[in-house]
Amino acid sequence: MSESTKNSSMNSDLHHPSAETVDAALIKDYETLYRRSITDREGFWAEEASKLDWFQKWDKVLDDSKKPFFKWFSGGKINIIQNAIDRHLKTWRRNKLAIIWEGEPGDVKTFSYHALNREVSKFANVLKSMGVKKGEIVTIYMPQIPELMFAMLACAKIGAAHSVVYGGFSVEALAARIEDAKSRVVVTADGGWRRGKINDLKSIANDAIKRSPTVEVCICVRRTGHDVYMENDRDFWYHDLMGLPIANPNCPTEVMDSEDMLFILYTSGTTGKPKGLLHTHGGYAVYTSTTHRYVFDIKDEDRWWCAADPGWITGHSYMVYSPLINGATLMMYEGAPNHPYPNRWWQIVEKYGINILYTSPTAIRGLMRFGEAWPKRHDLSSLRLLGSVGEPINPEAWRWYHRVIGQERCPIMDTWWQTETGGFMVTPLPITPLKPGSATKPFFGIEIGVVDEHGKEVKRGEEGKLVIKSPWPGMARTIYGDADRYVETYWKEYEKQGWYKAGDSARIDEDGYLWVIGRIDDVIKVSGYRLGTAEIESALITHPAVSEAAAIGLPHEVKGNAIHAYVILRSKFTPGKELEEELKEQVVKEIGPIARPEAITFMDVLPKTRSGKIMRRVLKARAQGLNEGDISTLEE
Ligand code: WTA
Repeated sequence: MSESTKNSSMNSDLHHPSAETVDAALIKDYETLYRRSITDREGFWAEEASKLDWFQKWDKVLDDSKKPFFKWFSGGKINIIQNAIDRHLKTWRRNKLAIIWEGEPGDVKTFSYHALNREVSKFANVLKSMGVKKGEIVTIYMPQIPELMFAMLACAKIGAAHSVVYGGFSVEALAARIEDAKSRVVVTADGGWRRGKINDLKSIANDAIKRSPTVEVCICVRRTGHDVYMENDRDFWYHDLMGLPIANPNCPTEVMDSEDMLFILYTSGTTGKPKGLLHTHGGYAVYTSTTHRYVFDIKDEDRWWCAADPGWITGHSYMVYSPLINGATLMMYEGAPNHPYPNRWWQIVEKYGINILYTSPTAIRGLMRFGEAWPKRHDLSSLRLLGSVGEPINPEAWRWYHRVIGQERCPIMDTWWQTETGGFMVTPLPITPLKPGSATKPFFGIEIGVVDEHGKEVKRGEEGKLVIKSPWPGMARTIYGDADRYVETYWKEYEKQGWYKAGDSARIDEDGYLWVIGRIDDVIKVSGYRLGTAEIESALITHPAVSEAAAIGLPHEVKGNAIHAYVILRSKFTPGKELEEELKEQVVKEIGPIARPEAITFMDVLPKTRSGKIMRRVLKARAQGLNEGDISTLEE
């Protein structure tokens, strides 16, 4: 049966779910359960938490005595691995596929829950033999290969925390993250495949480790097999270690406090220094598994594909942890969506019978460019639900995704959330009537508002700042090593009300649907990747020709936003095409290819406030030929 598209008096483009979708849905009445989740928040979350395995039950669901440092399920003893792996081994799921992995060159590996447990336990013992202790942070810098998941899960199993650094980041970004986490152990690979080329991770890791005095051990997976430099007594091959008797396949899962650190994940903010958001075992396990189960209606027979990278929060929450907690079969693909041809993803959907695909608007727009003929060559009838994340999805891309990929049968779950929130915050359920481009309504237990700078609710349909009005179990607990910055960044502006400031602008329409507009701080979403203007500016300033730099995001057809940089040169240097290229390369070298500026403009002066702050807003308005707004603070 195909989804019916009815006209509504409120909105001419409202997509109602089919009777089949509603029949299959876990939740059939959003409003009633939502009301209950707000009036009895703790009761709601206690019930969801009871669906997990606890070594010891919690004393208190929510402890808000030290706001904004909330605690969830305190007194409870748990380990996310007990839920993501161990408990499945006692059921028929032991022999169910946990992971289907395909490499870019076409090699395939699969792991049942039994096999996953073996690999994770062995590597957990390897980490222990390297002296890894509960509470220490292991940095993981890897391509999209199963060993990346094994490394994350092995850390969690023995109570160590992981800090996964996206494999597209470069030397400077990696070194800064290793330094902040004071990692003693780094897990990497010789490289990964991307569009037929090798992404030479080990060389980058070698350079980063040179700058990182804390690193004693580097474990390297052989993936691409090209020659790499291995330092004596510091570097070890993964396969060598996994072949030793120390890699025993039995390893007890460490009993953790609910509030113990599970991982830190660095993300960009207003200043140049990336912030490590800290997530914990208990609340994060409850929140990610609940959101995943209800929003994507996960069933045991499903094959779930979150086409993100584990190096970002989407990968952590919805590629690794929640699918495994929910006992799903997950798909992982190493390479580019258009390699060797633009049908690669559709081929994967057909080949493995994927039921749910969760990806970003940038990926959709990118694949849309190649035309409908590519997906049409494949049988996509296994798909039942689609998802979108990372940036606002423009209605044109939404409609293409819905019509061509979902064949007007699959509702699209447009999920709004952040590294800081751990999981979905505003999202449809499969039963929600959809409007292309709207993330619709808050998830259970979540109260949102769109307000002005005084905290006053703006009128329906008007733009304002998005805030979250009450705590939720998946929230980041702090910024690693910088609790003051955590308070300052998220909780200071609406301290009186006790609200969390999301950093996005948005509006709520007459039906109560949320429309996210974009970031209001100095964060740019490029292809859904989160970058800080300050990071890009610092990278530019490391070049000897640059005396000052400013970076802004401007709309881009595929990437959503593209980086435009403005630089003032030192006196001995002259502007030119060659220097422009060199500066772009400098940013790639320092941060990574995702941060490569689209254009660089040479300037004599930059618009600044009298106190010397660069007015990026003015640069942005000028570049787009828009009104510069209030420039009364602009320097002469
Ligand atoms: C943006 C990614 C509109 C938003 C999970 C947010 C979105 C930032 C959506 C967080 C969406 C994410 N619609 N905007 N469905 N999802 N965003 O930390 O600006 O990488 O603040 O987390 O992405 O980015 P982050």
